[in-house]
Amino acid sequence: MTVLTAENLCKTFGTTRALEDLSLSIEEGSFFGLLGPNGAGKSTFMNIVSGFLKQDSGSLALQGEELDPNNIEQKKLIGLSPQHIALYKELSAETNLKLFGKLYGLSGKKLSQQIEYALEVAQLSERRKSPVKDFSGGMKRRLNIAVALMHKPKILLCDEPTVGVDPQSRNAIFDTLLSLKEEGMTIVYSTHYMEEAERLCDQIAIIDVGKILRIGTLDTLLQELPKSNIIRARSASLDEANTTTFSKFGAVTQDGSSLELRTNEDFRLSSFFKWTEDQGLDATDFQIARPSLEDLFLHLTGKDLRE
Ligand SMILES: Nc1ncnc2c1ncn2[C@@H]1O[C@H](COP(=O)(O)OP(=O)(O)OP(=O)(O)O)[C@@H](O)[C@H]1O
Ligand SMILES: [Mg+2]
Repeated sequence: MTVLTAENLCKTFGTTRALEDLSLSIEEGSFFGLLGPNGAGKSTFMNIVSGFLKQDSGSLALQGEELDPNNIEQKKLIGLSPQHIALYKELSAETNLKLFGKLYGLSGKKLSQQIEYALEVAQLSERRKSPVKDFSGGMKRRLNIAVALMHKPKILLCDEPTVGVDPQSRNAIFDTLLSLKEEGMTIVYSTHYMEEAERLCDQIAIIDVGKILRIGTLDTLLQELPKSNIIRARSASLDEANTTTFSKFGAVTQDGSSLELRTNEDFRLSSFFKWTEDQGLDATDFQIARPSLEDLFLHLTGKDLRE
């Protein structure tokens, strides 16, 4: 079942077109990725869905009903963890949650229950009394997500939740979000890290300068790439003659002892290895790189995902 649909959303800021006819639909319970570089329009989309911004034209529907920013019942279904951390630094984790919980209209037992729940999800129960200013980047991020969970939304919008976060906290955030998905929550996740989209998302929308370029599963998206592989190897004994004959397998680039081969369509791994053996090539560190979303983005736009 579709939980959220956007149709022809447009938004401009002065002369900047942030969203241009953006249409997509998100399945209930899915992990939906918005993958795009800086300025693609990811935050603009999330801010419109959460009612912090109004689109110039186009419409949004939540569970089949037009999304109205003034409809409180609809608002309760959506939680936004914003890109820029929105917490009171002087206050403790617990007090932050309490304040935001009250903003969502929670009180009494329900409020304390949700505080416990949010602290647990964010793995911050033990640090509940510490002021946010003493937290690491990762802890702040986790609390920033926890705040959005106070009213137990059906859809959680997470805007670049891993920027400036150490790898351990990053994994903790992934675990948290995946377990929320297990519980049936729909996660909308924006990132410019293609590894994250590949690892987490059921559906990925590739977005650039306000437009959706492609939407699909990782597999369907990657099918669009030319069928070539990248093979990397190192060889101290590499000479120019080797490199030249290598090129019968594809396009070769050499940098010192490192070699990169972008294979032809008719490439066969077995004949390649036989050839390296016949040549007596003393190559090590063989690595066969999978085609990635990074390659697809480059293929679609001619530029790198990460500037
Ligand atoms: N409040 C605003 N005023 C003026 N321009 C804005 C505003 N918000 C966004 N923009 C512009 O709209 C475009 C889309 O911005 P948006 O923040 O949605 O991109 P993003 O994909 O979230 O990028 P990032 O990865 O850097 O967060 C950009 O060109 C940005 O400069
Ligand atoms: Mg953004």
